Amino acid sequence: MNFDLIIKNATLVDGRTSIDVACHKGLIVAIDRAVQGEAKEVIDAKGQLLSPPFIDPHFHLDATLSLGTPRMNISGTLLEGIALWGELKPVQTIDDIIERALRYCDLAVSMGIGAIRSHVDICGAELKGVEALLEVRKQVSHYIDLQLVAFPQDGAFRDPTAKKNLIKALDMGVDVIGGIPHFESTMQQGTDSIKFLCEIAAERGLMVDMHCDESDDPLSRHVETLAYETRRLGLEGKVTGSHLTSMHSMDNYYVSKLIALMAKAELHAIANPLINIMLQGRHDTYPKRRGQTRVPELKAAGIVVGFGSDCMMDPWYSLGKADMLDVAHMGLHVGQLSSRTDMAWCFDAVTKNSAKIMGLEGYGIEQGCKANMVLLQATDSIEAIRLRATRLAVIRDGKVIARSQPNKSELFLKGRPKHIDPATYAPIASST
Ligand code: FE2
Repeated sequence: MNFDLIIKNATLVDGRTSIDVACHKGLIVAIDRAVQGEAKEVIDAKGQLLSPPFIDPHFHLDATLSLGTPRMNISGTLLEGIALWGELKPVQTIDDIIERALRYCDLAVSMGIGAIRSHVDICGAELKGVEALLEVRKQVSHYIDLQLVAFPQDGAFRDPTAKKNLIKALDMGVDVIGGIPHFESTMQQGTDSIKFLCEIAAERGLMVDMHCDESDDPLSRHVETLAYETRRLGLEGKVTGSHLTSMHSMDNYYVSKLIALMAKAELHAIANPLINIMLQGRHDTYPKRRGQTRVPELKAAGIVVGFGSDCMMDPWYSLGKADMLDVAHMGLHVGQLSSRTDMAWCFDAVTKNSAKIMGLEGYGIEQGCKANMVLLQATDSIEAIRLRATRLAVIRDGKVIARSQPNKSELFLKGRPKHIDPATYAPIASST
């Protein structure tokens, strides 16, 4: 048989080795040891790790690459970031947002990201972000699956434009309903906003992804309401709580009840490790709280947990490089997910778990799946995280759309090797 592409001698995330993956007409059509047939393009993976693409389930494309406009976030807090964003919003144009978002997507695709769920702010006099990101969604559709969340940044109830704009944004084609209950004026309004937003989701058959309890306040318990409304409205499996940082500070007894309710509602959870380790605990002296939600306990309860990158060079976070392995690396450390099983799970948090949260179809390296993959300079998923491995090739619809040179350094030391490749490092056993 003739194929468009064969990747030979790959290692898969599940540990299978010496695997050939054949692609034709945008799909994986054969996967086995020694697949027979010709192909227009052949890649020798040389035993390196072939993964489905990275998935970023939580990002803000309307704010990315705006760092320093109109000024920097001095306190480093979430609240100053929101205030700063409020200053930037009226002055940026639709073209500015498109340009920055497309530029980010170029980097994202080179880093092996195949899908992004981006929140888009719908508060204010105009829906500039929505118009811009709908255009971006169209332009990147052949290399990134972009899912947009209508996000009332200033509060669905607190901001006078939010409710009307939310409906308008959904009518314009935004995919998912967002929210920010902890930022509403009162606890009651937070509760009411969840009910209101989930009811719209139920009416329209849409998914929900709320910024929920992104605070250090242990009494910020909106996720409890989110779980309740999810079940009341039959939205099980379609609702995600993003951030959930207040869970870090909650009373253990209360959390033992809460997690069971979340699991029953089939709520998904997204932690954003890079951002929350930076933003949370800012009002603490010492000890300082980490602020990441209770990832080990959520996953132990069977809740699908993903890691998102959230921000890059924007009012909330100055760093970032669209590297989901960097996100996994931070999530692993902050969550103390150090067993071999847990470290491998952190790779899932930026791949298949996040694909499940986004509801992506045809995701994975199996026959019949979409031929979307990334070849990494690592031999397993833990090594990929350790190394923040180089993306040797990024494949979309069975075609190579990005390539990077392997990471290798020259060494000029007498009596030592001439080349250093971090990917070849392995523990050295003591002689006994
Ligand atoms: Fe966010």
